[in-house]
Amino acid sequence: MLPHAYHRYFLWIAIAATFCLLASQLTSVHRRQPKQNPASAAETAESLVETTALRPPPASEIPIPRQIWQIFFAPPGIKTLDKGGTYASDWISMAPGYGYTLMGDEDATAFVDSSFASSRPDITATFHSLRNPAQKSDLLRYLLLWHRGGIYSDMDTRPLVPVEEWLPPAKRREVGLVVALEWDVARDGYWDENTRDVQFCQWTIAAAPGHPVLGGMVNHTIAALHDVARQQGKALDEADFSDLQVLNSTGPMAWSDVVFDEIRRRDPLVEELNDLMDLRSPKYAGDLVVLPVESFRAESSDEWGLNGWRKNRRALVRHYYKGAWKAQG
Ligand SMILES: *[C@@H]1O[C@H](CO)[C@@H](O)[C@H](O)[C@H]1NC(C)=O
Ligand SMILES: *[C@@H]1O[C@H](CO)[C@@H](O)[C@H](O)[C@H]1NC(C)=O
Repeated sequence: MLPHAYHRYFLWIAIAATFCLLASQLTSVHRRQPKQNPASAAETAESLVETTALRPPPASEIPIPRQIWQIFFAPPGIKTLDKGGTYASDWISMAPGYGYTLMGDEDATAFVDSSFASSRPDITATFHSLRNPAQKSDLLRYLLLWHRGGIYSDMDTRPLVPVEEWLPPAKRREVGLVVALEWDVARDGYWDENTRDVQFCQWTIAAAPGHPVLGGMVNHTIAALHDVARQQGKALDEADFSDLQVLNSTGPMAWSDVVFDEIRRRDPLVEELNDLMDLRSPKYAGDLVVLPVESFRAESSDEWGLNGWRKNRRALVRHYYKGAWKAQG
């Protein structure tokens, strides 16, 4: 029994070795070819150019820095985050060469105070007045992206492809803001009266530092928060926010208004939100790109490769809707 098994073992090694030898000779023949023939030398030069074009551009050439941000504000009674129960490691492995920062309560306070206390005390005061962790997390993501730039993504999101593949390298050199649709009524149907027919998600956003859309969003958010408090005749830290007011002050309704205003300013063909309906491929407006609804809202079938059509349309990030954003109490 045993000698026979060994015999087969050696036979396989011999076959494998022959195959390797053949393969290496074939590749060396292939490699030598361009030197013998000027036409294929030109081809090689061309394919070299192509490879260079596909290589991720150096940091100095891209507006959006290679940095991932995530935020975790501990719910009452929970002190620490079990990182094993998150997709943090997926973000790290899908973003080689990127910085990764998970911000908790204390880091957030330190970041906001050190970045804005002297230049924009309105920002610091507003941030510290927010009691709802969801609204704090909303405002913090805009502040991080505006001040530092990079990719922000919620803890309940999971990247499906390497983040450097979100855009072709040539676009990577130009794009300063990446947003995706959260809802597209032409493809998703009607949801509810609080969801715009076309809405942009803010669970995943990529931005260059200082991008005017983020600067505008910070201002819009601060004004909207104080408007709600003023209507109630209360200080911001005593105001009560309905779900709708959360969505419309710091959440996706507010984000959609600000992003859309900027697209309309840049693209004369876009007059109303519905002009962005039924988006099937990335839409560029200056340095801003809008990705179709499946890009950051992949379904499980995209993740498992079952849905060919959507997969071809590049599902990039899956969102698991675990966030407890709704007004507490
Ligand atoms: C935001 O508000 C500040 C202070 O009120 C102002 O100086 C700045 O120009 C505004 N930025 C944008 C993008 O609207
Ligand atoms: C949403 O916020 C905007 C700007 O703050 C305000 O003008 C509008 O009335 C709000 N809409 C709702 C439904 O509260």
